[in-house]
Amino acid sequence: MVLIRWLGRHSFCLSRRRRALLLKLMAVTLASLLFCEFLIYYLVIFWCRWPEVGAPARGKREPVLKALFLADTHLLGEITGHWLDKLRREWQMERSFQTALWLLQPEVVFILGDVFDEGKWSSSKAWEEDVARFRKMFRHPPHMQLKVVAGNHDIGFHYQMSMYRVRRFEEVFSSDRLFSWKGVNFVMVNSVALEGDGCGICSQVEAELVEVSRKLNCSREEPDSSQCAGGQRLPVSAPILLQHYPLYRASDANCSGEDAAPPEERNIPFQEKYDVLSREASQKLLWWFRPRLILSGHTHSACEVLHGGSVPEISVPSFSWRNRNNPSFILGSLTSRDYALSKCFLPLEGTVLSTYCGAAGLLVVLTLTGVGRLASPFPSAWTRLRVHRAR
Ligand SMILES: *[C@@H]1O[C@H](CO)[C@@H](O)[C@H](O)[C@H]1NC(C)=O
Ligand SMILES: *[C@@H]1O[C@H](CO)[C@@H](O)[C@H](O)[C@H]1NC(C)=O
Repeated sequence: MVLIRWLGRHSFCLSRRRRALLLKLMAVTLASLLFCEFLIYYLVIFWCRWPEVGAPARGKREPVLKALFLADTHLLGEITGHWLDKLRREWQMERSFQTALWLLQPEVVFILGDVFDEGKWSSSKAWEEDVARFRKMFRHPPHMQLKVVAGNHDIGFHYQMSMYRVRRFEEVFSSDRLFSWKGVNFVMVNSVALEGDGCGICSQVEAELVEVSRKLNCSREEPDSSQCAGGQRLPVSAPILLQHYPLYRASDANCSGEDAAPPEERNIPFQEKYDVLSREASQKLLWWFRPRLILSGHTHSACEVLHGGSVPEISVPSFSWRNRNNPSFILGSLTSRDYALSKCFLPLEGTVLSTYCGAAGLLVVLTLTGVGRLASPFPSAWTRLRVHRAR
């Protein structure tokens, strides 16, 4: 009788300790998940601010457009993408994007191409699935605009590009080449089609760009020529070019900053029409549009280049952790005359991984000490119990 009562009390004590240990383990696991998968995005993006754009001219404040630029999201496809990789990367991008929208409230978001990894060869069913996931990840309130330019992974490199792929892309993301808001003109260039070999798609895209150039010229110059008659006048402002391929540059040798290409890759010469646009196409864009700023993607690394001594181009790094440890996006405060840009880094993947490693370590320590404590007060109780049961 005494023995039974003693055993009962002892096992109650054991299970209480065991429950406390379990609770502790669960709390550590939950806290690290909550931090790494949710809170960290708020903590990091919270520090990003819209840059201040130049002082108002004679007290007259121009409207400022708040635009967010990102590039190369590469949503993985069904052929080469591993499901876990896909799940992880897409969750990270969804959280980053949604957190940025919530904290920063941009008016327009531009994605500079390579939204999908496998748009270049995906079946129509896989394409539909990719698009549905894209819409979920990059969902946004109706008053915010989302604009996407085509990249080589969306419609294929020049030799893979087909009317079918271009059309299905434009059905989802619109085929507008020109976008004006608050006095700012954006030209969205399908840079994959600037091969310059007169292919069907290429000639069509060039013709559209020439038409946009004409409209912009009409807004900038005295519209004396008959060409400018009719049609809506655009705001008088040099445009901002948005495209996937950067304009021609020999290499990334002159790029600097913490998210530029790694030093061992910087001097590798770029191939025209593959890494960057051809010299000819680049020159054409500069002549046609006389832009005040160019933003491009494709290289996955950051860079700032000055074309012709006056036109700056910003290479926007990839937004996916699959391509780099420190993804980012660009915040732009734009007026018709002026602009200011700043970069907002997302959480480092390294930080997330080390937090998880730390949590795993803590779990191991808690378990070991906990199990030790469970067994320690009556070292022989277990053995006695077991012997008892065995009989
Ligand atoms: C617009 O003006 C620029 C600069 O004068 C010129 O290079 C370009 O060809 C013009 N565009 C059109 C369509 O005429
Ligand atoms: C780097 O800058 C220097 C000086 O402006 C220039 O001469 C050189 O061509 C640039 N290199 C590349 C690869 O752009």
